[in-house]
Amino acid sequence: MSELALLGGAPVLPEPLPPYRSIGEPEMEAVAEVMESGCLSAFYGSPGPEFLGGPKVRAFEAAWAERFGTKHAVSVNSATSGLVAAMGAVGVSPGDEVVVPPWTMSATAMAPLAYGGIPVFADIEPDTFCLDVGAVKAALTPRTRAIIAVNLFGHPARLAELRELADRRGIWLVEDSAQAPLGEEHGRRCGTVGHIGVFSFNFHKHIHTGEGGMCVTGDDDLARRLQLIRNHGENTVAWLGVRDLVNMIGFNLRMTELSAAIGLAQFHNMEEHVATRERLATTLADGAADLDGLTPPRPRSGCRHNYYCWTLRYDADAVGVSRETFSRALHAEGFPHFVAYVEPLYLLPIFQERIALGRDGFPFTLTERRYDKGLCPVAERLHEREAILFEPCAWQVSDADAERLVVAVRKVHARASELAAWDEERARPRAVRS
Ligand SMILES: Cc1ncc(COP(=O)(O)O)c(C=O)c1O
Repeated sequence: MSELALLGGAPVLPEPLPPYRSIGEPEMEAVAEVMESGCLSAFYGSPGPEFLGGPKVRAFEAAWAERFGTKHAVSVNSATSGLVAAMGAVGVSPGDEVVVPPWTMSATAMAPLAYGGIPVFADIEPDTFCLDVGAVKAALTPRTRAIIAVNLFGHPARLAELRELADRRGIWLVEDSAQAPLGEEHGRRCGTVGHIGVFSFNFHKHIHTGEGGMCVTGDDDLARRLQLIRNHGENTVAWLGVRDLVNMIGFNLRMTELSAAIGLAQFHNMEEHVATRERLATTLADGAADLDGLTPPRPRSGCRHNYYCWTLRYDADAVGVSRETFSRALHAEGFPHFVAYVEPLYLLPIFQERIALGRDGFPFTLTERRYDKGLCPVAERLHEREAILFEPCAWQVSDADAERLVVAVRKVHARASELAAWDEERARPRAVRS
């Protein structure tokens, strides 16, 4: 085996992987058709049939609802918008608590704040990185209005258990399924187990529309409320006979006809995109399975993982070198990845300073909850020491490339003692010239 690239040897992948590109002829034709129609968005924010958008928006929603087996699909202009609309739809009010995981994209925990809700962080499982049901139970209080379960990296949270818990307590389960189209738990699709599920179509996802999102629900009333919040609902509630005006201030969260047309074109390749990543993930996991100190992701029994992220757990003591040095060596071999994901969200200034809306600290003025370091030890450990992430949705990886990625991991792992010596050498104090 050649010398480590970090120490001057030849890299396993001499050329960078090409970036993933899923936009082709069908998407271009779909856009051209909308351009020719001259109507790039058909929404009106007032009573009338256009309240629900134009033909492409409605067709995309219908196709999504059918594919996911849900009664309603309500498109939005991002998953962030979808999560905010979901919080509004389930009636989150100032001071209500919403249980969220700390290791997720920040939008998950910002959505409750938009309605004055209080995010309450529950720790995650060390192997699936999704909410730990025991921690959720411990976080529930009479003020809890909802749980947001994130199907992180494309793997389902313990959705059936969480739904059962939510129903028993008379609270709502919202799934942040931004990363998890076609993820599954015991045959039930991610996004469809909770009362509302939210998907993202931003540029980094399996299928994308530039920006975009989709909410799904089986509940007529929630669907209506999502539609009202999406599109200036205050103008339309009377026309629709909606009497519950809680959170019926509407926004403009509407998807354009252009985005919906791209979404429809992309939609039909979704299964193929996910299957490609499952194959890649299996090659990587099998290739690293026997290496001490590396734990590749595997789906929980009965689950389907879509591998939005392939997240390895790293044990520096077992490998014999720090995660940061291992990562530098892996980068030098041409394996693109990043260490850590996001800082546990409660460590962000918004929680540490307890200032969200206005200058007086609202809504934290309504709670005694604290956001101290140590709140969620599993998430902190993953962030600080254990996680190494590879983004299969960012790269075009052939089967041959996948084998090379395995060779790169094995090469760096086999040379960990050289890396430890290199680290030691660099740490040694140098004589300073006077
Ligand atoms: C878990 C999670 N939730 C929410 C979002 C927000 O999605 P969007 O960019 O569509 O607003 C993302 C985006 O990456 C995400 O990964």
